Amino acid sequence: MPETPDYQTELESLVSRLERIASLGAAELEAEHVAILGRKQGLLTNILRALPGLEAQARAQLGRQANQIKQQFETAFAARRDALRQAAATARSGLDLTMPGRRRWVGVEHPVTQVTEEILRIFRELGFTCALGPEAETEWLNFGALNFPPNHPALDMHDTLYVDTRDRRLSSHERRRGRSSGVEPDFERRTTAVDRRRPESEGRVLLRTHTSPVQIRSLLAHKPPVRVVAPGMVYRKDAFDPSHAPAFAQVEGLVVDREIAFVDLKATLVHFAHRFFGPETGTRFRPSYFPFTEPSAEMDVHHQLCHGKGCAVCKGTGWMEILGCGMVHPAVLENCGIDPEEFTGFAFGMGPHRIALQRFGIDDIRLFYEGDMRFLSQFGALGR
Ligand code: PHE
Repeated sequence: MPETPDYQTELESLVSRLERIASLGAAELEAEHVAILGRKQGLLTNILRALPGLEAQARAQLGRQANQIKQQFETAFAARRDALRQAAATARSGLDLTMPGRRRWVGVEHPVTQVTEEILRIFRELGFTCALGPEAETEWLNFGALNFPPNHPALDMHDTLYVDTRDRRLSSHERRRGRSSGVEPDFERRTTAVDRRRPESEGRVLLRTHTSPVQIRSLLAHKPPVRVVAPGMVYRKDAFDPSHAPAFAQVEGLVVDREIAFVDLKATLVHFAHRFFGPETGTRFRPSYFPFTEPSAEMDVHHQLCHGKGCAVCKGTGWMEILGCGMVHPAVLENCGIDPEEFTGFAFGMGPHRIALQRFGIDDIRLFYEGDMRFLSQFGALGR
């Protein structure tokens, strides 16, 4: 009688080969697959093929075991094949999944945006709505309607950036609407004035040098009472230096109603200063001049670093100028078809870039324009 092979021992020695599968390369893996599960001479295949010739009890016991082991091998081979296929794809894509992950940037609002939003929030709580105007304006809206005399030096090519419209005329729609700059819609009142008072020719197209043309747009579009703030970028032909930039933000304010007096201007702006800079902050108004306000003033607040004591940054004065303001000039109201005997108003304009310099104790305005993440990422927790 031929000796029955010791299938039990053979099975056990096969099990010891299971573990290495996970570390085999592609070629070795296929060789091992043939050696164990190959259809013709696979070691396990041979055992399974021998089962029917065995005596019933041995067949049942060995059969169960062999099938279990076959299952384990199949799982191990499939898993290794998958892993090798993925590794190959990764190598092709140049990805290295063992690299440590990159930290994600958590975005923060630009410091000037933070300051602008804070200014707008304070005025919104006082009942102001937000008005927006285009950055490309006409000479009439930027200067003429604001009572600048025709030969005013600000109109000079040296101060104002003019838009070359020889190739392409702005449509009247474009001139009136401009682009909106993303203020939430219910806080925004667009200025889409169509008014016969506007002259036939509004002169050359320019980049607005201040946000004051939005005063005109607001008054042409809405009868008083008007109470608006208008944020936006303005442009002047200035070179970059630590305190100047050719493009910077302004926030304009305008209130026109019956019986608006200088005391309303003062109370509103002092309230604003106390909200924005703190209730202890001192304020003062100095006489000034703007063609579109009479009387005109500039408002100073106590310097933020020395609290009014005087320091090197404020050149020992203890004060910093934050805005220009005044009572709306009667000629401006008339240019917008409003009777200056019936209505009066006040206006103001401030510069968020300058205010941000003060608030954050920064000495060079150019840092706001460079987009350097090492600078900008410091503003995550501030101002909120
Ligand atoms: N438009 C003025 C400027 O840019 C500021 C200002 C606005 C002054 C409103 C008075 C009233 O300097």
